[in-house]
Amino acid sequence: MPLPPARRRAAVIGTGAIVAGSHLPALAAHADRVELVAAVDVDEDRLDAFRALAAEQGQRVAGFTATDAMLDAVHPDLVLIGTPPALHREQTVAALAAGAWVLCEKPLCLSLAEYDEIAAAEESSGAYASVVFQHRYGSGAVHARELIASGELGAPRVAHCQTTWHRDAGYYAVPWRGRWASEGGGPTMGHGIHQYDLMLHLLGEWEEIRAMAARLVHDTESEDVSTALVRFRGGALATVVNSVLSPDEVSRIRVDCADATVELTHLYGHTDDDWVYTPAPHVDAARAAAWRRPGPGVPSSHAAQLGALLDALDAGVRPPGSGPEARATLEFAAALYKAAFTGQPVRAGEIGPGDPFHRAMHGGHPDWAPGAGREPVGEGRAA
Ligand SMILES: NC(=O)c1ccc[n+]([C@@H]2O[C@H](COP(=O)([O-])OP(=O)(O)OC[C@H]3O[C@@H](n4cnc5c(N)ncnc54)[C@H](O)[C@@H]3O)[C@@H](O)[C@H]2O)c1
Repeated sequence: MPLPPARRRAAVIGTGAIVAGSHLPALAAHADRVELVAAVDVDEDRLDAFRALAAEQGQRVAGFTATDAMLDAVHPDLVLIGTPPALHREQTVAALAAGAWVLCEKPLCLSLAEYDEIAAAEESSGAYASVVFQHRYGSGAVHARELIASGELGAPRVAHCQTTWHRDAGYYAVPWRGRWASEGGGPTMGHGIHQYDLMLHLLGEWEEIRAMAARLVHDTESEDVSTALVRFRGGALATVVNSVLSPDEVSRIRVDCADATVELTHLYGHTDDDWVYTPAPHVDAARAAAWRRPGPGVPSSHAAQLGALLDALDAGVRPPGSGPEARATLEFAAALYKAAFTGQPVRAGEIGPGDPFHRAMHGGHPDWAPGAGREPVGEGRAA
């Protein structure tokens, strides 16, 4: 009988809100398969507070203030990254070079050019880097994807993908927010990315995107709202909204297929009950009832994604959310920005090396790139 796989040794880089609030509970949920052995943060107070929190849960975690020192001393099997976005590429590449697998917070990196560096580091190390998109891994999303992919709901025709959230000036007072160099973009890169990642996961390859972006309220370099129209390869048309200006907050995906509408309404995470299936008039009740059968009841969560990654680690195969899947979501972001800032439709695959939107999400556009002359906040700008 084969031996069970060894318990993996994990380290976290960044011990702020998402690591303490979501990665630590995820590690605890998989304590039989993975052990947290080290944490890195440049802020020693945060590091100490995190280690104390882990100790309350019975975990003795070594503390480091530099990633390289941690990698040299600990040689972890797995590194979970929850630092501000501008650090993701460098820390992911360093962890891969040390032979560790990586689960990095979204966005995985700031541009397609940075993604290429991560792909090269994967290639030379043999380890893999996945990006956190926890909404893919809840059982409601797994079930909906299977129903759509199998054709059970009929061909997808129309979709809506809505991230209408609200962030105030205090939120944008944090220095790394709203800046291209540190956050990579506005709600397109930071907030709506969860929802359109899930839309892409459900509907597959897209063909063409048209978009608009505006800076209506906040004193940011990047946009505070963007909207897009998308044509999928199978012919379906979708609308996408990414907003931090919406007092009534909701995250929503709706896909109208030939035989049913499937609809997800939530805010920051979903359960099976948040998915609603409405049959077309020609569908008989027994068939529709089968769509609504409860799944295994796994909410979307970091724990669900970590479990899928540990399965891949045990099997030695590319984990979900890495490689081409991670690149596809970044490509969609780059294409949305390019379409919005140039006013031209963008086709899938057209943004390659040499394209300014491959280097940076702002594409060097004179109205949007850092340092560009901007109109006063409040007057808005749509491109
Ligand atoms: N998946 C989700 O639902 C979700 C939700 C919120 C945030 N996030 C993502 O998580 C990441 C972190 O967000 P947050 O809200 O936890 O931020 P945060 O500011 O609370 O935490 C970031 C931590 O990184 C530390 N840090 C900064 N530079 C470092 C360095 N060089 N080495 C080690 N540590 C360093 C900071 O001191 C801080 O403790 C972002 O990429 C964000 O987009 C994801």
